Amino acid sequence: MKAVVIDDEQKLHWQDVDAPTPGADEVLIKIHATAINRADLMQRKGFYPPPPGASTIMGLECAGEVAAVGENTSKFKVGDRVCALLAGGGYAEIVAVHEGSVLPIPGGDTFIHGACLPEVFATAWLNLFIEAKLQPGEKVILHAGASGVGTAAIQLCKSFGSPCFVTAGTAAKIAACIELGANAGSNRHEGSFFEKADDFSAGAGIDVILDPVGGSYLEDNLKLLGLNGRLVLIGLMGGNVAQINLAMLLMKRLRVIGSTLRTRPVEEKAVVMAQLLEKVWPKIESGEIKPIVDTVFPIEEVEKAHALVESDETIGKVVMSVQS
Ligand SMILES: NC(=O)c1ccc[n+]([C@@H]2O[C@H](COP(=O)([O-])OP(=O)(O)OC[C@H]3O[C@@H](n4cnc5c(N)ncnc54)[C@H](OP(=O)(O)O)[C@@H]3O)[C@@H](O)[C@H]2O)c1
Repeated sequence: MKAVVIDDEQKLHWQDVDAPTPGADEVLIKIHATAINRADLMQRKGFYPPPPGASTIMGLECAGEVAAVGENTSKFKVGDRVCALLAGGGYAEIVAVHEGSVLPIPGGDTFIHGACLPEVFATAWLNLFIEAKLQPGEKVILHAGASGVGTAAIQLCKSFGSPCFVTAGTAAKIAACIELGANAGSNRHEGSFFEKADDFSAGAGIDVILDPVGGSYLEDNLKLLGLNGRLVLIGLMGGNVAQINLAMLLMKRLRVIGSTLRTRPVEEKAVVMAQLLEKVWPKIESGEIKPIVDTVFPIEEVEKAHALVESDETIGKVVMSVQS
């Protein structure tokens, strides 16, 4: 099969590699589309190695057709149209993945749309609803609101009854977030988000913050959280070191939760995927929640696709189509 290989100078090549074979608990997928995640850019630079046992090929999600099934699997048959959350291996023609990480493409939608869903909806669902235990009516801040994860999280907040405030890098991105369901926003290049987010909370404090930025936002995040507030840290785009006043944690009974999806055991990922199937897939089928596609490239143009994501200009997902 063909896959994207990273050379010694971090350049990308679509070239022949050995194809995987499915284990007893795995499904083999013939990939028709895969999508880019921020983590891929870090993996390419050598900062985010795949977890032990995972494919060394980049790619955390895909959509395609089931090509073979392992002997212990029961959910899928050859020919089913599916999408999957991957620990790696998505930038390829074929991937093997545990069946618990595979879902049907909702509503018979396209492979391009299917490839946009698994990583960002699993991340947003896991961290808002399982880790932070978000309740209807609670107020949320979503940093990097126009990112893949952010656009999924905005729609989940709106659909499940939680008003949300976003930060993003341009006025156009904030407008797009509001169009998707955010209530207000702040441009990260125009000073701290603190004042606007404080107005949004109307003095009651924020209940949940989903933060991929880390160090540079920590102090303002903790100041904005109300009693029993939860900060879920999912990335470190703004640095991994910060100084904080621990008294704030004590007095407001705050919880700071660190969370990664990729390194979790397959059993934990299966729980997240099952909840998506039950609670979110019907909303995608009805059109209430949508996959947000910024641009589609053929996978042979992976360098261009990565450059676009790295530009910080995208809203939602950059997808790569795979034709073989
Ligand atoms: N822990 C996990 O399990 C997990 C899983 C998935 C993703 N993530 C993290 O979630 C984040 C979003 O991922 P994604 O793939 O959805 O990203 P994406 O679509 O590539 O969007 C990332 C956006 O972040 C903003 N950004 C870039 N540098 C920033 C900085 N220094 N400070 C603040 N904002 C910055 C940019 O938007 P603006 O210019 O508009 O701000 C950029 O477009 C990433 O940090 C990723 O690593 C974590």
